[in-house]
Amino acid sequence: MSLTVNGRRESVTVAPRTQLAEILRDHLDLTATHLACEQGVCGACTVMVDGKPTRSCLMFAASCEGVTVETIEGYKGDELMDRLRDAFKANHALQCGFCTPGMLATARDLVERLDEPDEMRIRNELSGNLCRCTGYVGIVRAIAQVIEERKALGIAATGAPRAPRPEITGFAPFEADIAERAADSAVSSGTMSVEDGWSVVKREVNLAHSPDAVWAHFSDLDAVAACLPGASLAEHDDSTFAGHIGVAFGPIGAKFEGQGNYDTDDATHTGTVTGRGKDRGGQSAVEGELSYTVRPAPDGPQTSLVDVGLRFRIQGMLGQFNRPELVNGFVDYILSEFVANCDAVLSGGEVRESKGISAFAMIRAVIGAKLRSLFRRS
Ligand code: FES
Ligand code: FES
Repeated sequence: MSLTVNGRRESVTVAPRTQLAEILRDHLDLTATHLACEQGVCGACTVMVDGKPTRSCLMFAASCEGVTVETIEGYKGDELMDRLRDAFKANHALQCGFCTPGMLATARDLVERLDEPDEMRIRNELSGNLCRCTGYVGIVRAIAQVIEERKALGIAATGAPRAPRPEITGFAPFEADIAERAADSAVSSGTMSVEDGWSVVKREVNLAHSPDAVWAHFSDLDAVAACLPGASLAEHDDSTFAGHIGVAFGPIGAKFEGQGNYDTDDATHTGTVTGRGKDRGGQSAVEGELSYTVRPAPDGPQTSLVDVGLRFRIQGMLGQFNRPELVNGFVDYILSEFVANCDAVLSGGEVRESKGISAFAMIRAVIGAKLRSLFRRS
């Protein structure tokens, strides 16, 4: 299906019952549209559809063909939205900010549409947007202030929903500042799906070493753990292990401690690792299974392909990490670091020093990969 989002024509392939909010967040990376109740009550997911504030959790893909959507990411250079943002700040109309994108979408509609609303009218019009933090005094004040500013500029209220912004044609402005382009990764794109709450990822990895050398390296659990960024093995025997892995999300750090089992088959060059762990605060838990097969690559005897299959789920505070874009980016980031370390060791060198898995590095890798694929497409 096709729709216009923030002035750009977009095409996505989704099931008919996919929510517009999911199309925006999961397929177009427009994550400022927030989801909370998912039943039309809280207003957190409000976006403009064909010029009207709309609950994107209640609009299904089947009704989105050809519509024009504006999300909070699309208001760059919009004077009214700039004034509203300033007024929200000045009047303490936000705290955690969760409701704010939906609030601003509704507020912009009110400022443009209502001529001289009193406080009760603003409150009634805002009743479809819930805020758990601020109370509504600051929000109502901010909206009233921008309505006054609009009137002082001599701009009349429209009295009706505004016309959607026209579609951008030709080249959209490109503002990314890319200092360097990362080398192409040895990890192929692969697939990611969600099955019964489990994230299922498949990848194919290239290594410029013979299958026997790669298999010998993979059979040495200490050597493998040393190549995995942030991982540390506390103990292991022939079939079980215990250890931890550190993850840093900017200011939030989690250290997962866990244990599991592993099994390798020399005849088929196949291995399986299953494990589960909790972070120290007990706020997140992860469990999963990793399988891998080393096989000859068509390029020659000194090259190998590794088929990697990963099935995992995260519960608790880091549960939202299960989103496809993040999972894909995370897996590619970890695998490319892991492959680079394995390659260094198999070439007689050493593993690079690692401080753990950094979300910032991962996000940079995700954005870099996206930009590279855009360049390749154009
Ligand atoms: S998430 Fe859509 S109204 Fe609450
Ligand atoms: S600012 Fe936190 S929910 Fe509104």
